[in-house]
Amino acid sequence: MTGESAADRTKRLAALDQAHIWHPFTPMQGWMEDDPLIIERGEGCELIDTDGNRYLDGVSSLWVNVHGHGHPALDAAITAQLGRLAHSTFLGLTHPAAIELAARLVALAPVSHVPDDRPASTDDTPGPASARRSRLERVFFSENGAASVEVALKMAYSYWRHKGEERPTFVRLENAYHGDTIGAVSVGGIDRFHETYRPLLFATASIPSPYCYRCPLDLSPADCGLRCADALEDVLAREGDRVAAVVIEPLVQGAAGIITAPDGHLRRVADIARRHGVLLVVDEVATGFGRTGKMFACEHEGIEPDILCLAKGLTGGYLPLSATLATSEIFDAFLARPEEHRTLYHGHSYSGNPLCCAVAMANLDVFENEQTIASLPAKIDALAGALKPLTDHPHVGEIRQRGLMVGIELVADRSTKEPFPEHLQVGAEVAKATRPRGAIVRPLGDVVVLMPPLAMTEEELARLVAATATAIDEATAAAPHRSPAEGGRG
Ligand SMILES: Cc1ncc(COP(=O)(O)O)c(C=O)c1O
Repeated sequence: MTGESAADRTKRLAALDQAHIWHPFTPMQGWMEDDPLIIERGEGCELIDTDGNRYLDGVSSLWVNVHGHGHPALDAAITAQLGRLAHSTFLGLTHPAAIELAARLVALAPVSHVPDDRPASTDDTPGPASARRSRLERVFFSENGAASVEVALKMAYSYWRHKGEERPTFVRLENAYHGDTIGAVSVGGIDRFHETYRPLLFATASIPSPYCYRCPLDLSPADCGLRCADALEDVLAREGDRVAAVVIEPLVQGAAGIITAPDGHLRRVADIARRHGVLLVVDEVATGFGRTGKMFACEHEGIEPDILCLAKGLTGGYLPLSATLATSEIFDAFLARPEEHRTLYHGHSYSGNPLCCAVAMANLDVFENEQTIASLPAKIDALAGALKPLTDHPHVGEIRQRGLMVGIELVADRSTKEPFPEHLQVGAEVAKATRPRGAIVRPLGDVVVLMPPLAMTEEELARLVAATATAIDEATAAAPHRSPAEGGRG
């Protein structure tokens, strides 16, 4: 439309959005009553709206962006691939970008620090752990984190069937989040997101969440002995021969509010699963690609799962792609003649899309060329330093940080840990209040999440925290004076 001012365009687009779009995970009544923020461009770690206002991308555009927006190497990789092929099916055909990417992911996959009695990788050479290759040698591509988990569940269940065992159940953690499709929801444990669908879900067994701030077992982290993880022992002793796999987010339960597990928790769960002969599915959709300070969270505790789920940061936050990595032992169970029906019946129109694979390769190149992982310790420390003054805030119950993943849990009363009444939507109010201060953050309930791109500079991190701290001041001061009718906008 010619001659339209920026302000008029914003207004027109907002009206069209509110007339026609149904947004994901968004309470739509509140959305329709507010002015939507319309993002037009991205530059580095900033997003720019249709009126030209700039905002620090405080949640990496839903935990996906890694090296910033408009990175020249990532842009170029997509353009170059576009010149060759945008898409061809991955069912019964293949293409160079996916082939190269699969090999790169296998070479990067986490390796166990602890020798065990499982068969080694086919290329395994004797030597120190660092010289070993992961047993995760097979890569199945799909399009998002939920799909990578669905695939993992199907792989695990079918693996046992192919071996002649019926194992129809999975062990999940309370407070887990693995995506929004029905299988992924079945192994989830966040009532707010999952309870509605409970009647549609398959049966699972659950173990407590490692939520030390509100310990479900009423223990103290100093001397709990990781009893929440040991609960797995009881479940597997009782019904281990019916369990296909234990599914876990390593180190951080992200969507539950950045719940950071105590050191050793993942290792304990892995050891128990191993001892009972149950598969371990590790979901690194959120934690993968540097978020916790290492390429994969598994590396902190030397864990080599049987199945590994990757998504989000896999393409640097550019295009939708996920990968489910499995060991050769699992893969081999699917090898048979077609009429034996051991095929993995899963896949979509856009599975293994070449543009997605090309940008994922470029993402890995940037990790190498810019020494991204080596740059993280200084940023992680800077972020911790910037957050420190907030620990004394009267409405900050706990600040949880693992790498560049941060959750700030807001409470009405620090001494009792009493939450704010839900209708006040304090977390959402904080997020809203950061915007005029030049930052975008997204809460999970009353936990304010910061998850900046790995590329964010120390100066930008300090600005992000300053904007968030001021917004917390403002929203928590206003909370007691707001009526229920004013709440409810998510
Ligand atoms: C640990 C974990 N698994 C799976 C998912 C689902 O990923 P997606 O939104 O790409 O389907 C998420 C999303 O936040 C996640 O945090």
